[in-house]
Amino acid sequence: MMSSRLINVLHVVGARPNFVKVAALMHAMAAKKKVFQQTLVHTGQHYDPLMSDIFFHQLEMPVPDIYLDVGSGTHAVQTALIMQRFESVVLDRKPDWVVVVGDVNSTLACALVCAKIGVRVAHVEAGLRSFDRGMPEEINRVLTDQVSDLLLTSEEIAQENLLREGIPSQKIHFVGNVMIDTLTRLLPLTDGRSVLRDLGLDVDKQVKPFVLVTLHRPSNVDDPSVLLEIASALSALAKNITVIFPVHPRTRERFAGLDQSMSLGQTQLIEALGYLDFLALERQAALVVTDSGGIQEETTFLGVPCLTVRPNTERPVTISQGTNRLVEPIAEKILAAAHLALEKTKTTPRQKPSLWDGHAAKRIVDVLRQENEAAEAGR
Ligand code: UD1
Repeated sequence: MMSSRLINVLHVVGARPNFVKVAALMHAMAAKKKVFQQTLVHTGQHYDPLMSDIFFHQLEMPVPDIYLDVGSGTHAVQTALIMQRFESVVLDRKPDWVVVVGDVNSTLACALVCAKIGVRVAHVEAGLRSFDRGMPEEINRVLTDQVSDLLLTSEEIAQENLLREGIPSQKIHFVGNVMIDTLTRLLPLTDGRSVLRDLGLDVDKQVKPFVLVTLHRPSNVDDPSVLLEIASALSALAKNITVIFPVHPRTRERFAGLDQSMSLGQTQLIEALGYLDFLALERQAALVVTDSGGIQEETTFLGVPCLTVRPNTERPVTISQGTNRLVEPIAEKILAAAHLALEKTKTTPRQKPSLWDGHAAKRIVDVLRQENEAAEAGR
């Protein structure tokens, strides 16, 4: 029998990629107003308007109910501050479920708070593994999964990873990719954006070929010698094709700290973009060069060639079924891989990964309802 009490769900967002995922969940739950009551908590991990506010507006998300205002800091400081401030929110709001997404510091901090005070946590995008403990996100993934009550996975291999780590199979549900839900919902809105024209890429209704770049991983931007290698590859590439690089604040800081002799040549550095403008560029790019996790998935879905400047990926389906290739942060290797990708005429579209169909959030809604009914019945 269905319970008449609303299911009280508290969503956590902190950093840019979280907004895109939680937007899909809030949208799906808002369509079930008689079932869910939602609260949105923003930790404030990302606070610049271009990294945060613009996303809420474009993704049609409500203003957060609670803002923890933690800002930047070392991993320990940021994680500790989120935990301290989030604990009183959970004690006050008494949610049935806290939903955390992805692998950022906010994800782990909030999951850990809940595990310690006995509030159920659902982790969306569980089970992804790069097997590289040097990545802060890998630590966040492994630990969040260990303390979560419900593991909601986006690609098939995630279940194997979780079972290997001793997580009981009844906690794991393969639901698909919520980021692709948001992409499919908002893709039509990119037609009306002027970004291609504004950047001089749309000439007489023909899109000029261009390469789109995003980089922010500590392993690529914090070591000046690695950053120089990547910059030199981009500079060489930009001699032959337009290269557009929306710069993450972390990367901008690192560029500012580098020797003036470092040159990006004709690479066009622009401010970090909002969701719709970025998507408008991404779908039209001849090639994307990135170290982001989500962009590997979006390009796979869009069928756009992608070079990921990393030694590994926690999203292997983007390689097996997508257009993604890994490349070392060495100028010659990046250039060679970029030329190869650009020479290829349009690759035949591959099969889209399983359950990347725009309905992942609806499946999560169903799982949460079932879990809640089971818990009520057992009470
Ligand atoms: C974080 C996530 C990463 C995600 C990325 C997306 C962790 C460990 N990392 O990395 O997984 O891919 O977000 O963007 O959680 N800064 C600003 N303004 C902001 C936010 C950050 O200037 O609004 C600067 C600050 O100098 C800060 C630095 O960027 O110290 C790093 O920010 P932080 O949130 O710690 O990590 P990201 O590198 O953004």
